[in-house]
Amino acid sequence: MNPLKQAKGLYLGWRANRSKIALAGRAPDLALDPENLRLSLEDPSAYYVRAFQEFHHCLPAELKAHRAFFTQDSRGFGEDAFHVMWWRLVRKFEPNTFLEIGVYRGQVLSLISLIAKLEGIECHVTGISPFSPAGDSVSIYRSNLDYLEDTLANFRKFELSQPELIKAYSTDASALDVIASRKWDMIYIDGNHDYDIVLKDWHACSKAVESGGIIVLDDSGLSTNYRPPCFSTAGHPGPSQLASEIDRSEFEEIFQVGHNRVFRKR
Ligand SMILES: C[S@@+](CC[C@H](N)C(=O)[O-])C[C@H]1O[C@@H](n2cnc3c(N)ncnc32)[C@H](O)[C@@H]1O
Repeated sequence: MNPLKQAKGLYLGWRANRSKIALAGRAPDLALDPENLRLSLEDPSAYYVRAFQEFHHCLPAELKAHRAFFTQDSRGFGEDAFHVMWWRLVRKFEPNTFLEIGVYRGQVLSLISLIAKLEGIECHVTGISPFSPAGDSVSIYRSNLDYLEDTLANFRKFELSQPELIKAYSTDASALDVIASRKWDMIYIDGNHDYDIVLKDWHACSKAVESGGIIVLDDSGLSTNYRPPCFSTAGHPGPSQLASEIDRSEFEEIFQVGHNRVFRKR
């Protein structure tokens, strides 16, 4: 790798770490009630900081250990504050069925199972992904890994029941059949980030989610006033454009944590 690029990468990593440590050490702003989801839409930047601090001050130890495992050795993407988002969403909406489009190594799918287990909620989790290094115009993934076996091993590591994994692109007929096979309580779209594919994912999932059910759209914060700290990102153009086109008479936006935006079917 170009030594200048390498040095820049090291510097940015150091700066992000330093900023995280400083923020985690500060007491959370108690004036901002994190259970009031509307506040996350009014000031997504302040809410994100509050959620990040909740991760470090309030989250159950099992969930922090789960995040630590997926952060090690680049087993997962995401941000600490997103563990808080899922913790809040699962406890509030108690989904019995959860679908993830784009699984990678099972961080979110196993997190949902783990939160449900801790909270005594029966939740069947399903993931649709090619379980290969398939990327898109903004993402490249490592090639030397059996993603399906790795995801199953990560579920075993946390002593969770095995998930239902569908090895397919979300636009394949077999995947579309699975999406349409039931009314889902909660769906998380985080597969291919290119606009035309996210649009297809939204079309399939918005029909298949239960009335009152939830769709979380990852990487869609560029079209909001979220201003990320240096260790976070506002997302990608494809999902962000799609989010701004969602028909609000069908879906109400109820929550935002960083670049994750949460929509509820009316
Ligand atoms: C950003 S990663 C998902 C991370 C995951 N949500 C998590 O937090 O653990 C995106 C994943 O989607 C997969 N993917 C790419 N194109 C896809 C498609 N058309 N349908 C489903 N998944 C796709 C990629 O191979 C990758 O594993």
